[in-house]
Amino acid sequence: MSTAEVAAGLWRRCRLQGKVAIITGGSAGIGEATSRLFANHGAKIIIVDIEDDAGKKVADSLSPWATYLYCDVSKEQDVSAAVDMAMEKHGKLDIMYNNAGTVDNQKLSVDYDMQEFERVMNVNVKGVMHGIKHAARVVIPKGKGSIISTASIAGMVGGATPYSYNA
Ligand SMILES: NC(=O)c1ccc[n+]([C@@H]2O[C@H](COP(=O)([O-])OP(=O)(O)OC[C@H]3O[C@@H](n4cnc5c(N)ncnc54)[C@H](O)[C@@H]3O)[C@@H](O)[C@H]2O)c1
Repeated sequence: MSTAEVAAGLWRRCRLQGKVAIITGGSAGIGEATSRLFANHGAKIIIVDIEDDAGKKVADSLSPWATYLYCDVSKEQDVSAAVDMAMEKHGKLDIMYNNAGTVDNQKLSVDYDMQEFERVMNVNVKGVMHGIKHAARVVIPKGKGSIISTASIAGMVGGATPYSYNA
């Protein structure tokens, strides 16, 4: 393999060199996998989640690239604080990945619990909007940055998942 090929390969493996990312729900599942992928590509990551033990474990395993912060995305002040932490610690935010999500397991009935519906909406809808709003606060003045939000096929096809999750 030529030097140029090696260099090209290194570049491909480090496509996020110098970037700063917040990954919500980064303690498990898709968020954890994304945290590991981003770190492998050279990004500095702030993993935010409500599962402290799991989040710290993932962040420790990616040290010094990752930091963990408790943040309930349904609370605007928590998301705002996560963005502030990125600015204070790294001086910028390049990528906001709104990935945290939840689900309930209710079937439709006269006893349908609207508080559970609201809990899911507060995370899956409001939580994403909090991320968009507070990331925009710092990326718009810079004129660059990426705001990514995980969606689901359940948003287009009903029947396979609970009503709150479809909504
Ligand atoms: N797994 C799938 O097949 C699938 C398919 C389509 C979309 N999605 C979406 O992808 C995202 C990730 O799914 P997953 O399968 O990795 O889920 P997961 O349950 O494995 O992980 C979700 C993470 O979000 C965290 N979280 C939950 N509520 C939170 C809150 N209020 N604040 C901060 N963090 C919170 C959890 O603690 C967990 O670490 C979700 O938005 C989900 O709806 C998943």
